[in-house]
Amino acid sequence: MSKLELGVCYYPEQWDRSLWRDDAERMVEMGLDWVRIAEFTWGLVEPARGQFNWAWLDDVIGILGEAGLRVMMSTPTASPPKWLIDEHPEILPVDSDGRVRGFGSRRHYCFSSNVYLTEAQRIATEYARRYGQNPHVHAWQIDNEYNDHDTVLSYSTAARDGFRRWLSDRYGTIKILNQTWGTVFWGSVYSNFDQIELPNGLVANPNPTHALDFMRYSSDRVRLFNRAQVDILREFSPGRDITHNFMAGSFEFDHHAVAKDLDIVGFDSYPLGNLLGSTLSDDDKRRYLRTGAPDYQGFHCDLYRSQGNGRMWVLEQQPGPVDWASKNPSPADGMIRLWTWVAYAHGAQAVMFFRWRQAKYAQEQFHTALLRSDGSIDQAAIELAQVAAERAALPPTERNRAQVAMLLDYPSIWAADILPHDEDFPNAHIAREWYAALRSLGVDLDFLGPDDDFSGYALIVIPQCMIVSPELATKLKGCDARLLIGARSGSKTENMHTPGNLAPGLLEYLTGVKVLRVESLPDLAGESVRLADDTTHGFSGWREILETDATVTAHFSSKYRDGSPAIVRSDKATYLAVVPRSSLLKSVLQEVLDWAKIPVLDCCPDLRITRRGKLGFAFNFGDTEHCLPASETRNYLVGSSLIPPCGVSIWVGETAN
Ligand code: GAL
Repeated sequence: MSKLELGVCYYPEQWDRSLWRDDAERMVEMGLDWVRIAEFTWGLVEPARGQFNWAWLDDVIGILGEAGLRVMMSTPTASPPKWLIDEHPEILPVDSDGRVRGFGSRRHYCFSSNVYLTEAQRIATEYARRYGQNPHVHAWQIDNEYNDHDTVLSYSTAARDGFRRWLSDRYGTIKILNQTWGTVFWGSVYSNFDQIELPNGLVANPNPTHALDFMRYSSDRVRLFNRAQVDILREFSPGRDITHNFMAGSFEFDHHAVAKDLDIVGFDSYPLGNLLGSTLSDDDKRRYLRTGAPDYQGFHCDLYRSQGNGRMWVLEQQPGPVDWASKNPSPADGMIRLWTWVAYAHGAQAVMFFRWRQAKYAQEQFHTALLRSDGSIDQAAIELAQVAAERAALPPTERNRAQVAMLLDYPSIWAADILPHDEDFPNAHIAREWYAALRSLGVDLDFLGPDDDFSGYALIVIPQCMIVSPELATKLKGCDARLLIGARSGSKTENMHTPGNLAPGLLEYLTGVKVLRVESLPDLAGESVRLADDTTHGFSGWREILETDATVTAHFSSKYRDGSPAIVRSDKATYLAVVPRSSLLKSVLQEVLDWAKIPVLDCCPDLRITRRGKLGFAFNFGDTEHCLPASETRNYLVGSSLIPPCGVSIWVGETAN
């Protein structure tokens, strides 16, 4: 399945049944192949314990399927019904201030509740039994967006009890826990596991190992919850693909781990919804207000495609203004088409649009859709129909393995949040900033988790991998790639201790550096890094003071230890004693790509170029047209060498710059 497939999220329960048949026929006419349904239907299907009202859902699936659509069915566990909450109020999640988060919206469950786990398995079994062999049901989505509304962490009694059991399994004895956490510090020693509380509501910072273990425990609960439903679907609906819709920009649980249990890694893409809250400068936010950041879609597609071993779908694509960001602008006309083609270019097998028809009542009335609430066609539907027509011209093709990979480790992101040392430390954003800088140099990337296969890459970039296990260190040493290792990497053991040989711990022998001290500087410090080409670039935030015998390729210009090493190179690795951003980042990456012999395309800032197998793609996120240089070996299938604002060109043949 390598042609682009298109789909839509549909909520038939919100509309009169007299519309269903017409809706289905219009979906097919528009070129849609898939329809995703039912993720919030538990309270409608089972209005009281054990009383099932399937008839309407049977009809919906029949109508959609007979019209020629493939149905992605969902398990409805993102929204437990009121009667269940009344029966078992302990299912509700608890926020970090200790407040119970109540019924009346969605995601009102705690991952630690075993009562809820059993109920989720029960209802998933009912849905799977009913529809698992239905000829129109071709795939399943489990639940909906695990961390939506910040619901991975819950501070309930169930979480506390579960955490205690998890700790007891991990450490065996309380003595080992005390040693590992270092509870002698501030005299917080425990005499048994039942004394341990959750790391919220404390007077000062929690013990960092305690906090990291709670993140690990919470992440494991998400995996367990997901896995329990996967097992049920495998039994009752064999042969159907199983997915879940990860969120773009969510790092709160280990997505690498959860992805291992899925057939397709799905995610939800809201490029404008997530723009204003990003770390882009105000100038860039203004520039991309109606297009979204040029690398938003690509980053998430590449990350989740890598986690899905090539099987990645966009399960919700922004169709127009959303209703949940601080401000909700309209995308420029053309952007729905552009985002869809970006997703395909970066490996998506399917793109589904959220949602079919704009809601007339309840929570999401301002959220646009393919149709307005009166059923008339909105802009997204026009652009979707264009994509549906254009895809016929493209030969099926798959994305090749990239030459460059980025290592992304979720526990390291949690660890840096727990011990930031710099309240503005960009943490997860570093990965996005490195990705954007590499993409603006025309470089295609894959992502790696610590357990993945590192072979076959010319360069592995590691923006921040604070926790390096012995296994990871061995893999990094043994792989063929050159390494670019960001500051803080290897600076903590898996127990959140400083390594015996100081940072970068197990990476010392690869990098030839030892970190003697770290500091963090405010923007007003006015310090800079001088590169080998004699250019200087301002920086602020994280800085390390290194001891090294390896080659120093850049130095700090500073009132403190002027000239100390900022970038150090050994045969295999380049190590950064700074978190480079803007012009420093781009210069550093350019030089490192040269060192690793990776060809670079000097793209203009608003243009992105990528490849999917034999197809080349160019996308213009700017507001002026862009002309690709003439080439006789490029045969344009969509667009031409002249790319208008928000335009897309697709060709067979060589890459262009
Ligand atoms: C997603 C969610 C959808 C819908 C959408 C609106 O986070 O999965 O159900 O609420 O946002 O943009």
